[in-house]
Amino acid sequence: MTSISRKEFLSGVAGTAALAGLPAMGSAADNALVMRAIPKSKNKEQLPVIGLGTAQDFGAQAAPEIMEQKAQVIRELVAKGGRVLDTAEQYSGGGAEAFVGDVIAQSALRDKIFLATKIEERGKEAGQAAIETAFKRLRSDTIDLMFVHNMVDTDLHLPVFLDLKAKGRYRYVGVSSTGREQDRLTTWMDQIDFVEFAYAVDAREAEKRLLPMAADKGVAVLVALPLGRGRLLGKVQGQAVPEWAKQELGAVSFAQLLLKFVVSHPAVTAAIPGTNRPQHMIENLAAGHGPLPDAKQRERIAAIWTA
Ligand SMILES: NC(=O)c1ccc[n+]([C@@H]2O[C@H](COP(=O)([O-])OP(=O)(O)OC[C@H]3O[C@@H](n4cnc5c(N)ncnc54)[C@H](OP(=O)(O)O)[C@@H]3O)[C@@H](O)[C@H]2O)c1
Repeated sequence: MTSISRKEFLSGVAGTAALAGLPAMGSAADNALVMRAIPKSKNKEQLPVIGLGTAQDFGAQAAPEIMEQKAQVIRELVAKGGRVLDTAEQYSGGGAEAFVGDVIAQSALRDKIFLATKIEERGKEAGQAAIETAFKRLRSDTIDLMFVHNMVDTDLHLPVFLDLKAKGRYRYVGVSSTGREQDRLTTWMDQIDFVEFAYAVDAREAEKRLLPMAADKGVAVLVALPLGRGRLLGKVQGQAVPEWAKQELGAVSFAQLLLKFVVSHPAVTAAIPGTNRPQHMIENLAAGHGPLPDAKQRERIAAIWTA
């Protein structure tokens, strides 16, 4: 994040006309992987703007060569400078947490990964069991970020999470939700460090309340579904990436354009595109390098899908 502040950008988001004159956020000369601060971090911790999501079959059992490919996704994340890995108790029926935990342990990557997971349980007892299970599956005594998944029994689980944070077992806590209900995440913004919700070129509701409030309250944002779970890439299949996007933003694929759109919003800390393919992981991380779109370029990107 370079030339404008989060607040300046966000006040502009309210009116697209105001955005048009904003300067570019990043420059061609600055080719490092863009990092964003975690606002509530006491030691000014920063995260790379592109991470990895594991919701889609990442932990599902498959042939050994497919499992090796998925393990390689995690290794590429780290090798190319990424850090954020988002999983959850429910993904692949618990298989994602367990697989991620195994790969991280076998490849000795624990200190190189910002490990986020979630529990989605009704009732205190079930919540407690899931909390213990997550430590075991992830094979770690500490979890960087624990979410209440889909706002299920948030008021019950959040005090428990905050207690574990005070004891040093969680570093940060948050609440996640996608879909129509996600605006209700604003309820807990005074208590949490992170929120996670859906945001993409054709799903921009979050620009109205969630993103501005997160910036105002110093809550870090992980963006789920930044590629629209395949919906958006399907729409441009067979088309060529516009020449202006290659020249001005260095984007060589539509996936990169979608990711650059998401992470160019200054209230976003990181996007967590899901992939089971090492090549896609490398391509996605590359979107976090080089220039990010300014306000005008953001609208040009969005228009590819929404015009
Ligand atoms: N309530 C919640 O908290 C919640 C809800 C939903 C999601 N999430 C989180 O958000 C993450 C992201 O969402 P998602 O995985 O469902 O959807 P997504 O990231 O929007 O899209 C993933 C899809 O895009 C494809 N893809 C990824 N990179 C690509 C590339 N460079 N080129 C072409 N295709 C590419 C993937 O296929 P390949 O495997 O072939 O690459 C996969 O089919 C999840 O994994 C999860 O961690 C959280």
